[in-house]
Amino acid sequence: MTPTERPDRNLAIELVRTTEAAALAAARWQGRGAKEEGDQAAVDAMRQVLATVDMDGTVIIGEGEKDEAPMLYNGESVGTGSPPKVDIAVDPVDGTRLLAEGRPGSLAVLAAAPGGAMFDPGPMVYMEKIVVGPDAVDAIDLDATIGQNLEMVAKAKRRQVRDLTVMMLDRDRHEDAKREIRDAGARLQLITDGDVAAAILAAWDERPAVDMLYGIGGTPEGVTAACAVKALGGRIIGRIWPRNDEERQAAVDAGYDLEQVLDTDDLVTSDDCFFACTGITPGQLLAGVTFDGHGAVTESLVMRGKSGTIRVIKARHRLEKLREYASINY
Ligand code: FBP
Repeated sequence: MTPTERPDRNLAIELVRTTEAAALAAARWQGRGAKEEGDQAAVDAMRQVLATVDMDGTVIIGEGEKDEAPMLYNGESVGTGSPPKVDIAVDPVDGTRLLAEGRPGSLAVLAAAPGGAMFDPGPMVYMEKIVVGPDAVDAIDLDATIGQNLEMVAKAKRRQVRDLTVMMLDRDRHEDAKREIRDAGARLQLITDGDVAAAILAAWDERPAVDMLYGIGGTPEGVTAACAVKALGGRIIGRIWPRNDEERQAAVDAGYDLEQVLDTDDLVTSDDCFFACTGITPGQLLAGVTFDGHGAVTESLVMRGKSGTIRVIKARHRLEKLREYASINY
Protein backbone atom coordinates (compact mmCIF):
# COMPACT_ATOMS: atom_id res chain seq x y z
CA MET A 1 0.00 0.00 0.00
CA THR A 2 1.34 3.45 -0.88
CA PRO A 3 0.62 6.47 1.33
CA THR A 4 -1.32 8.00 -1.56
CA GLU A 5 -3.86 5.19 -1.84
CA ARG A 6 -7.41 6.47 -2.04
CA PRO A 7 -9.73 5.43 0.78
CA ASP A 8 -11.47 2.25 -0.29
CA ARG A 9 -14.68 0.59 0.74
CA ASN A 10 -15.38 -0.16 4.37
CA LEU A 11 -17.68 -3.17 4.12
CA ALA A 12 -18.43 -3.05 7.84
CA ILE A 13 -20.44 0.13 7.36
CA GLU A 14 -22.85 -1.84 5.19
CA LEU A 15 -22.67 -4.97 7.32
CA VAL A 16 -23.86 -3.13 10.41
CA ARG A 17 -27.29 -2.95 8.81
CA THR A 18 -27.44 -6.74 9.10
CA THR A 19 -26.68 -6.72 12.82
CA GLU A 20 -29.11 -3.85 13.41
CA ALA A 21 -31.84 -5.82 11.64
CA ALA A 22 -31.03 -8.97 13.62
CA ALA A 23 -31.03 -7.05 16.91
CA LEU A 24 -34.30 -5.26 16.17
CA ALA A 25 -36.03 -8.54 15.32
CA ALA A 26 -34.50 -10.47 18.23
CA ALA A 27 -35.23 -7.75 20.79
CA ARG A 28 -38.96 -8.53 20.53
CA TRP A 29 -38.10 -11.85 22.18
CA GLN A 30 -36.31 -10.36 25.19
CA GLY A 31 -37.18 -12.27 28.32
CA ARG A 32 -39.85 -14.40 26.69
CA GLY A 33 -38.14 -17.67 27.53
CA ALA A 34 -37.95 -18.71 23.88
CA LYS A 35 -34.34 -19.27 22.80
CA GLU A 36 -35.05 -20.79 19.39
CA GLU A 37 -37.66 -18.23 18.39
CA GLY A 38 -35.43 -15.30 19.32
CA ASP A 39 -32.52 -16.77 17.40
CA GLN A 40 -34.71 -17.57 14.39
CA ALA A 41 -36.05 -14.00 14.26
CA ALA A 42 -32.47 -12.70 14.24
CA VAL A 43 -31.35 -15.18 11.58
CA ASP A 44 -34.28 -14.34 9.29
CA ALA A 45 -33.71 -10.60 9.56
CA MET A 46 -29.93 -10.81 9.18
CA ARG A 47 -30.21 -13.03 6.13
CA GLN A 48 -32.62 -10.71 4.35
CA VAL A 49 -30.34 -7.70 4.74
CA LEU A 50 -27.21 -9.74 3.92
CA ALA A 51 -28.74 -10.57 0.54
CA THR A 52 -28.58 -6.86 -0.39
CA VAL A 53 -24.87 -6.36 0.38
CA ASP A 54 -22.57 -6.23 -2.65
CA MET A 55 -20.18 -9.08 -1.89
CA ASP A 56 -19.53 -12.67 -2.80
CA GLY A 57 -19.76 -14.10 0.69
CA THR A 58 -19.50 -17.65 1.98
CA VAL A 59 -20.62 -18.42 5.50
CA ILE A 60 -17.65 -20.09 7.21
CA ILE A 61 -19.11 -19.78 10.69
CA GLY A 62 -22.87 -20.04 10.68
CA GLU A 63 -25.80 -21.65 12.38
CA GLY A 64 -24.49 -25.17 11.76
CA GLU A 65 -24.62 -27.74 9.00
CA LYS A 66 -27.12 -27.33 6.16
CA ASP A 67 -29.42 -30.16 7.22
CA GLU A 68 -29.85 -28.80 10.75
CA ALA A 69 -29.80 -25.06 9.89
CA PRO A 70 -32.14 -23.99 7.10
CA MET A 71 -30.57 -20.53 6.93
CA LEU A 72 -27.11 -19.05 7.32
CA TYR A 73 -25.67 -22.56 7.37
CA ASN A 74 -21.95 -23.20 6.96
CA GLY A 75 -21.13 -23.02 3.27
CA GLU A 76 -24.14 -20.89 2.32
CA SER A 77 -23.51 -18.13 -0.24
CA VAL A 78 -24.58 -14.69 0.93
CA GLY A 79 -24.58 -11.24 -0.67
CA THR A 80 -25.28 -10.19 -4.23
CA GLY A 81 -22.44 -12.30 -5.64
CA SER A 82 -20.35 -9.37 -6.87
CA PRO A 83 -16.79 -8.84 -5.52
CA PRO A 84 -15.21 -8.85 -3.01
CA LYS A 85 -14.98 -12.53 -2.20
CA VAL A 86 -15.27 -12.82 1.56
CA ASP A 87 -15.56 -15.34 4.38
CA ILE A 88 -18.45 -14.51 6.69
CA ALA A 89 -18.94 -15.40 10.35
CA VAL A 90 -22.43 -14.83 11.68
CA ASP A 91 -23.67 -14.99 15.23
CA PRO A 92 -27.16 -13.49 14.91
CA VAL A 93 -27.54 -13.79 18.69
CA ASP A 94 -24.44 -14.29 20.82
CA GLY A 95 -26.09 -15.12 24.11
CA THR A 96 -29.35 -16.77 23.11
CA ARG A 97 -29.97 -17.64 26.75
CA LEU A 98 -29.30 -14.05 27.83
CA LEU A 99 -31.92 -12.90 25.34
CA ALA A 100 -34.46 -15.54 26.35
CA GLU A 101 -34.01 -14.79 30.05
CA GLY A 102 -33.87 -11.03 29.55
CA ARG A 103 -30.36 -10.76 30.94
CA PRO A 104 -27.73 -8.19 29.94
CA GLY A 105 -25.18 -8.60 27.21
CA SER A 106 -26.65 -10.36 24.16
CA LEU A 107 -25.35 -9.11 20.81
CA ALA A 108 -26.03 -9.59 17.11
CA VAL A 109 -22.63 -10.15 15.50
CA LEU A 110 -21.17 -10.45 12.02
CA ALA A 111 -17.57 -10.53 10.81
CA ALA A 112 -16.03 -10.65 7.34
CA ALA A 113 -12.54 -11.34 6.00
CA PRO A 114 -11.06 -12.02 2.56
CA GLY A 115 -11.99 -15.46 1.17
CA GLY A 116 -9.92 -18.15 2.87
CA ALA A 117 -8.69 -15.91 5.70
CA MET A 118 -10.82 -17.28 8.52
CA PHE A 119 -9.83 -20.33 10.55
CA ASP A 120 -12.48 -22.97 9.99
CA PRO A 121 -13.42 -24.36 13.42
CA GLY A 122 -15.22 -27.35 11.83
CA PRO A 123 -16.73 -29.50 14.58
CA MET A 124 -14.39 -28.10 17.26
CA VAL A 125 -16.86 -26.60 19.71
CA TYR A 126 -14.51 -25.17 22.34
CA MET A 127 -11.20 -23.41 22.61
CA GLU A 128 -9.21 -22.13 25.53
CA LYS A 129 -8.64 -18.41 25.02
CA ILE A 130 -6.92 -15.37 26.43
CA VAL A 131 -7.73 -11.89 25.11
CA VAL A 132 -6.01 -8.63 26.05
CA GLY A 133 -5.80 -5.08 24.76
CA PRO A 134 -2.98 -3.25 22.91
CA ASP A 135 -0.75 -2.55 25.89
CA ALA A 136 -0.54 -6.22 26.89
CA VAL A 137 -0.13 -7.98 23.53
CA ASP A 138 3.33 -9.27 24.42
CA ALA A 139 2.36 -10.26 27.95
CA ILE A 140 0.30 -13.41 27.42
CA ASP A 141 1.30 -17.03 27.02
CA LEU A 142 -1.04 -20.04 26.95
CA ASP A 143 1.70 -22.28 28.32
CA ALA A 144 2.22 -20.12 31.40
CA THR A 145 -0.06 -20.32 34.44
CA ILE A 146 -2.89 -17.83 34.85
CA GLY A 147 -0.98 -16.31 37.76
CA GLN A 148 2.09 -15.80 35.55
CA ASN A 149 -0.07 -14.27 32.80
CA LEU A 150 -1.58 -11.87 35.29
CA GLU A 151 1.87 -10.87 36.55
CA MET A 152 3.02 -10.19 32.98
CA VAL A 153 -0.11 -8.23 32.07
CA ALA A 154 0.13 -6.17 35.25
CA LYS A 155 3.75 -5.33 34.46
CA ALA A 156 2.91 -4.39 30.86
CA LYS A 157 0.11 -2.15 32.11
CA ARG A 158 2.28 -0.68 34.91
CA ARG A 159 -0.22 -1.85 37.47
CA GLN A 160 -0.52 -4.42 40.19
CA VAL A 161 -2.29 -7.76 39.75
CA ARG A 162 -4.87 -6.64 42.32
CA ASP A 163 -5.84 -3.81 39.94
CA LEU A 164 -6.66 -6.21 37.08
CA THR A 165 -10.10 -7.56 36.24
CA VAL A 166 -10.49 -10.88 34.46
CA MET A 167 -13.75 -11.67 32.72
CA MET A 168 -14.65 -15.34 32.52
CA LEU A 169 -17.65 -17.50 31.66
CA ASP A 170 -19.19 -18.93 34.82
CA ARG A 171 -18.76 -22.65 34.11
CA ASP A 172 -17.85 -25.71 36.16
CA ARG A 173 -14.89 -26.30 33.84
CA HIS A 174 -13.40 -23.04 35.14
CA GLU A 175 -13.26 -23.98 38.84
CA ASP A 176 -9.46 -24.36 38.80
CA ALA A 177 -9.00 -21.14 36.83
CA LYS A 178 -11.29 -19.31 39.21
CA ARG A 179 -9.18 -20.45 42.15
CA GLU A 180 -5.94 -19.45 40.41
CA ILE A 181 -7.26 -15.98 39.60
CA ARG A 182 -8.38 -15.51 43.19
CA ASP A 183 -5.06 -16.81 44.53
CA ALA A 184 -3.21 -14.38 42.26
CA GLY A 185 -5.26 -11.57 43.77
CA ALA A 186 -6.92 -10.26 40.61
CA ARG A 187 -10.55 -9.22 40.44
CA LEU A 188 -12.92 -11.58 38.68
CA GLN A 189 -16.04 -10.76 36.70
CA LEU A 190 -18.11 -13.84 35.90
CA ILE A 191 -20.58 -13.77 33.04
CA THR A 192 -23.21 -16.36 32.30
CA ASP A 193 -22.82 -16.11 28.50
CA GLY A 194 -21.51 -13.99 25.67
CA ASP A 195 -17.76 -14.18 25.30
CA VAL A 196 -17.67 -12.16 22.06
CA ALA A 197 -18.70 -9.07 24.03
CA ALA A 198 -16.21 -10.11 26.73
CA ALA A 199 -13.40 -10.35 24.16
CA ILE A 200 -14.17 -6.84 22.91
CA LEU A 201 -14.26 -5.47 26.43
CA ALA A 202 -10.89 -7.06 27.17
CA ALA A 203 -9.28 -5.82 23.95
CA TRP A 204 -10.70 -2.30 23.81
CA ASP A 205 -8.47 0.12 25.67
CA GLU A 206 -11.24 2.71 25.74
CA ARG A 207 -13.20 0.38 28.03
CA PRO A 208 -10.69 -0.19 30.80
CA ALA A 209 -13.09 -2.08 33.08
CA VAL A 210 -11.88 -5.47 31.81
CA ASP A 211 -8.19 -6.30 31.39
CA MET A 212 -8.37 -9.89 30.24
CA LEU A 213 -10.79 -12.50 28.99
CA TYR A 214 -9.72 -15.93 30.11
CA GLY A 215 -11.33 -19.32 29.73
CA ILE A 216 -12.84 -21.97 27.54
CA GLY A 217 -15.54 -20.73 25.22
CA GLY A 218 -16.86 -21.31 21.72
CA THR A 219 -14.32 -21.73 18.88
CA PRO A 220 -16.62 -19.97 16.37
CA GLU A 221 -16.92 -17.07 18.83
CA GLY A 222 -13.11 -16.99 19.09
CA VAL A 223 -12.65 -16.64 15.32
CA THR A 224 -15.40 -14.02 15.09
CA ALA A 225 -13.96 -12.04 17.99
CA ALA A 226 -10.50 -12.17 16.37
CA CYS A 227 -11.75 -9.81 13.62
CA ALA A 228 -12.72 -7.26 16.29
CA VAL A 229 -9.54 -7.82 18.29
CA LYS A 230 -7.47 -7.05 15.17
CA ALA A 231 -9.22 -3.73 14.67
CA LEU A 232 -8.82 -2.91 18.37
CA GLY A 233 -5.08 -3.64 18.26
CA GLY A 234 -5.35 -6.32 20.93
CA ARG A 235 -4.45 -9.99 20.86
CA ILE A 236 -6.31 -13.27 21.18
CA ILE A 237 -4.50 -16.56 21.65
CA GLY A 238 -6.23 -19.89 21.87
CA ARG A 239 -6.01 -23.65 21.66
CA ILE A 240 -8.64 -26.15 20.68
CA TRP A 241 -10.13 -27.80 23.75
CA PRO A 242 -11.73 -31.20 23.05
CA ARG A 243 -14.33 -32.19 25.64
CA ASN A 244 -13.58 -35.92 25.49
CA ASP A 245 -11.57 -38.62 23.70
CA GLU A 246 -14.10 -38.83 20.92
CA GLU A 247 -13.74 -35.12 20.12
CA ARG A 248 -9.98 -35.38 20.46
CA GLN A 249 -9.87 -38.20 17.92
CA ALA A 250 -12.27 -36.39 15.58
CA ALA A 251 -10.04 -33.31 15.72
CA VAL A 252 -6.90 -35.32 14.93
CA ASP A 253 -8.67 -37.17 12.10
CA ALA A 254 -9.80 -33.85 10.65
CA GLY A 255 -6.20 -32.59 10.67
CA TYR A 256 -6.37 -30.16 13.61
CA ASP A 257 -3.23 -29.73 15.68
CA LEU A 258 -4.36 -29.84 19.29
CA GLU A 259 -1.04 -28.52 20.57
CA GLN A 260 -0.99 -25.48 18.30
CA VAL A 261 -1.41 -22.07 19.88
CA LEU A 262 -3.69 -20.19 17.54
CA ASP A 263 -2.70 -16.55 17.52
CA THR A 264 -4.79 -13.64 16.24
CA ASP A 265 -3.20 -14.00 12.78
CA ASP A 266 -3.95 -17.74 12.70
CA LEU A 267 -7.62 -17.19 13.50
CA VAL A 268 -7.90 -14.48 10.82
CA THR A 269 -4.94 -14.39 8.49
CA SER A 270 -5.69 -10.99 6.91
CA ASP A 271 -5.88 -7.55 8.50
CA ASP A 272 -8.40 -6.56 5.86
CA CYS A 273 -11.25 -7.78 8.05
CA PHE A 274 -14.50 -6.22 9.17
CA PHE A 275 -16.67 -6.55 12.25
CA ALA A 276 -20.09 -5.25 13.26
CA CYS A 277 -22.22 -5.91 16.31
CA THR A 278 -25.42 -4.44 17.75
CA GLY A 279 -26.68 -4.69 21.31
CA ILE A 280 -29.89 -6.68 21.77
CA THR A 281 -30.34 -6.68 25.55
CA PRO A 282 -28.65 -3.82 27.45
CA GLY A 283 -25.08 -4.64 28.38
CA GLN A 284 -21.71 -3.49 29.59
CA LEU A 285 -20.48 -3.07 26.00
CA LEU A 286 -23.51 -1.65 24.23
CA ALA A 287 -26.99 -0.40 25.00
CA GLY A 288 -29.80 -2.77 24.10
CA VAL A 289 -32.62 -2.08 21.66
CA THR A 290 -35.18 0.34 23.04
CA PHE A 291 -38.65 0.77 21.60
CA ASP A 292 -40.57 4.03 21.94
CA GLY A 293 -43.39 5.92 20.32
CA HIS A 294 -41.26 6.73 17.27
CA GLY A 295 -39.86 3.27 16.63
CA ALA A 296 -36.61 1.93 18.02
CA VAL A 297 -33.03 2.89 18.80
CA THR A 298 -30.00 0.62 18.40
CA GLU A 299 -26.36 0.96 19.36
CA SER A 300 -23.66 -0.74 17.33
CA LEU A 301 -19.91 -1.06 16.92
CA VAL A 302 -18.39 -1.03 13.46
CA MET A 303 -14.73 -1.93 13.06
CA ARG A 304 -12.23 -2.32 10.29
CA GLY A 305 -9.02 -4.26 10.80
CA LYS A 306 -6.98 -2.51 8.11
CA SER A 307 -7.52 1.03 9.37
CA GLY A 308 -8.27 0.27 13.02
CA THR A 309 -11.22 2.63 12.88
CA ILE A 310 -13.84 1.92 15.53
CA ARG A 311 -17.24 3.53 15.14
CA VAL A 312 -20.03 3.57 17.69
CA ILE A 313 -23.26 4.04 15.80
CA LYS A 314 -26.49 4.97 17.44
CA ALA A 315 -29.36 4.55 15.00
CA ARG A 316 -32.94 5.69 15.16
CA HIS A 317 -35.26 3.33 13.26
CA ARG A 318 -38.68 4.59 12.16
CA LEU A 319 -40.54 1.32 12.37
CA GLU A 320 -43.79 2.71 10.94
CA LYS A 321 -41.87 3.70 7.79
CA LEU A 322 -39.94 0.43 7.62
CA ARG A 323 -43.18 -1.52 7.90
CA GLU A 324 -44.47 0.18 4.73
CA TYR A 325 -41.94 -1.63 2.56
CA ALA A 326 -39.65 -3.94 4.55
CA SER A 327 -40.28 -7.67 4.41
CA ILE A 328 -38.91 -8.04 7.94
CA ASN A 329 -41.61 -7.94 10.61
CA TYR A 330 -40.19 -5.33 12.99
P1 FBP B 1 -25.05 -19.02 22.21
O1 FBP B 1 -25.61 -17.68 22.00
O2 FBP B 1 -24.84 -19.75 20.93
O3 FBP B 1 -25.87 -19.75 23.19
O4 FBP B 1 -23.56 -18.84 22.79
C1 FBP B 1 -23.35 -18.16 23.97
C2 FBP B 1 -22.00 -18.47 24.56
O5 FBP B 1 -21.94 -17.97 25.89
C3 FBP B 1 -20.81 -17.94 23.78
O6 FBP B 1 -20.61 -16.55 23.91
C4 FBP B 1 -19.70 -18.77 24.33
O7 FBP B 1 -18.55 -18.79 23.50
C5 FBP B 1 -20.34 -20.12 24.44
O8 FBP B 1 -21.75 -19.87 24.60
C6 FBP B 1 -19.86 -20.96 25.56
O9 FBP B 1 -20.41 -22.23 25.45
P2 FBP B 1 -21.14 -22.99 26.64
O10 FBP B 1 -22.38 -22.24 26.99
O11 FBP B 1 -21.44 -24.33 26.10
O12 FBP B 1 -20.19 -23.02 27.77
